[in-house]
Amino acid sequence: MKTKTVFICQNCGTQSPKWLGRCPGCGEWNSLVEEIEGADGAAAGSDYSFPTSEPVLYRDIKETKNPRLEVKIDEFNKVIGGGVVLGSVTLIGGEPGIGKSTLLLQVSRDFALDGQKVLYVSGEESLEQIKLRGDRLGVRDGQLYLLAETSLERILAQAEKIMPRILVLDSVQTVFSGNLASSPGTISQVREVANQMFRFSKRNQVSTFLIGHITKEGSLAGPKSLEHMVDVVLLFEGERDHSHRVLRALKNRFGPVSELAIFEMAASGLQAIANPSAFFLKERPAHAAGSSVAVTIKGSRPLLVEIQALVSSTLFSSNPRRMTVGLDHYRTAMLLAVIEKKLGYGFAGDDIYLNVAGGLAIDEPAADLGAALAVVSCLKNVPLPQSLASFGEVGLSGEIRSVGLALARVKEAAALGFTTVVLPRSNAVGLERDTPAGVTLLAAASLKQAIDLVF
Ligand code: TYD
Ligand code: MG
Repeated sequence: MKTKTVFICQNCGTQSPKWLGRCPGCGEWNSLVEEIEGADGAAAGSDYSFPTSEPVLYRDIKETKNPRLEVKIDEFNKVIGGGVVLGSVTLIGGEPGIGKSTLLLQVSRDFALDGQKVLYVSGEESLEQIKLRGDRLGVRDGQLYLLAETSLERILAQAEKIMPRILVLDSVQTVFSGNLASSPGTISQVREVANQMFRFSKRNQVSTFLIGHITKEGSLAGPKSLEHMVDVVLLFEGERDHSHRVLRALKNRFGPVSELAIFEMAASGLQAIANPSAFFLKERPAHAAGSSVAVTIKGSRPLLVEIQALVSSTLFSSNPRRMTVGLDHYRTAMLLAVIEKKLGYGFAGDDIYLNVAGGLAIDEPAADLGAALAVVSCLKNVPLPQSLASFGEVGLSGEIRSVGLALARVKEAAALGFTTVVLPRSNAVGLERDTPAGVTLLAAASLKQAIDLVF
C-alpha cells in the first residue's frame, strides 16, 4: 500500500495535498513540509479533550477556586497570575540559548525544595549536562527527577509511574510519538506531543511546562500552532549580547497577561531584577547631549529608559540614513518629520540614529517626547538636565497628546530621583495633588512648548 502523505505548513498548520511555494493559510514562503499520515492521521492535534463529556447544567457547576502552587521566583509568579494552576499546561517559547532550560530548572529546583515532586524531562541534553547546569544553579535536595528521553510514550509511562506534581518537557520539538511517522519537530509531531501532555496533565492534575524553541521571525516548527491548545503561553525574550531577559505572558486562561518580569543572566543563573528602571539607567552618561530619559510602560508597570540620538552629516547626501534600535521605525520617521516641520530644524542631509540603551524594545507612543528631546538635545548640542524625565505622545501637528497611567509614571520617575517630569498638559491636570514632593511637573501642549520649557 502506498503511504499517504500530506504537505503541512510548519508555521500555521495549513494542509495541502500538494507542495506549494507559499502557504495559502498564512502567506509564509517555503514553509510546507511533506509529512506521512500516521496511524492517527497527521495533524490530528485538535482532538484533545477533558475527562468528562456529559453536558452539565450551568447552575450545577460548582465554583472552584483554582488551586495554585506558588513559584518562589516572585517575578515569575506574577507573570503567570499568582502561581501555577494545578493541572495547567504552560507553553514557554523563546529563541535557542535565551535561557529557557535555565529558568525552568530554577523553577523545578524551588518546587522540589518546597516538597513537591518534579519531573524534568530533557530531549536535548544528557543527565550529566543537566546536572552540570543544576550544580551552578544550586540544585541539591528535594524530589527532583531527571529523565533524558525523546519518546513520548516512554515519557508518559515514566510520568505515570512517578506521578509528579510538576512536569517540565524540554523541548516539544525534540520529543516524538511513535504513533506518527513524521520526524520530530514537524508540526504534526509537536501537536501530538502537546496534545498527549495536555491530556495527561488534565487527567492527573499535573502542572506541565512545555518548552518550545521559536525563531526570531516568531514561530518556525510550530509552537505557534500550540497556542490555542495550552492554558498559558509565556514568551522569554532578550538580545543575545545583552544580559537581560524579559518574560511575559501572551495568553493566560487563569489571569491577566499584563505583567512582565525582567531577569538578568548571571553566572549563577537568572536573577530577577527587582528595580528594572535602575538597571536600564545604570550606565547612562552624565551630561551628554542627545540622551534623554523616557518613562514608558512595560506590562502594567512603568519603566524608565534612556533614549539616545545621534545626528551626523551624511557621506551620501542623497540618501541620509534613519536608523532606530528599540523604537518603531515608522513612528520615528514621523517624529523626525514633525521636528523638521514644527520646530524648523533642517536635517535633510544628516544621518540620524536613535537607540534605546540596554537593548530594550519600546512599543508605545508615550516615548515620542523622550525621543524628540533626545534628537533636539543632539541638534542643539546641549545636554538635557540630568534629573529630567519625560513622557507623551507627539501628534502630527506637533501637539503632545495624553497617555495612560500618568501618575504611575510620575511616581516611578520620582522614585528614581528625577526631579523634573515633562508631560502632556492634558495629563498634568489634577496631577499636582498626588505628585511626590520635590518633583516639578512641566506640562506642555506642544512639542515647541516642551522644548522652550526644557532648554
Ligand atoms: P539555556 O537555558 O540552555 O537556553 P535555552 O534552553 O533557552 O536554549 O541557557 C543559555 C545560555 O545561558 C547559555 O549560553 C549559558 C548561559 N548561562 C549563564 O550565563 N549562566 C548560567 O548559570 C547558566 C545555567 C547558563
Ligand atoms: Mg534548552
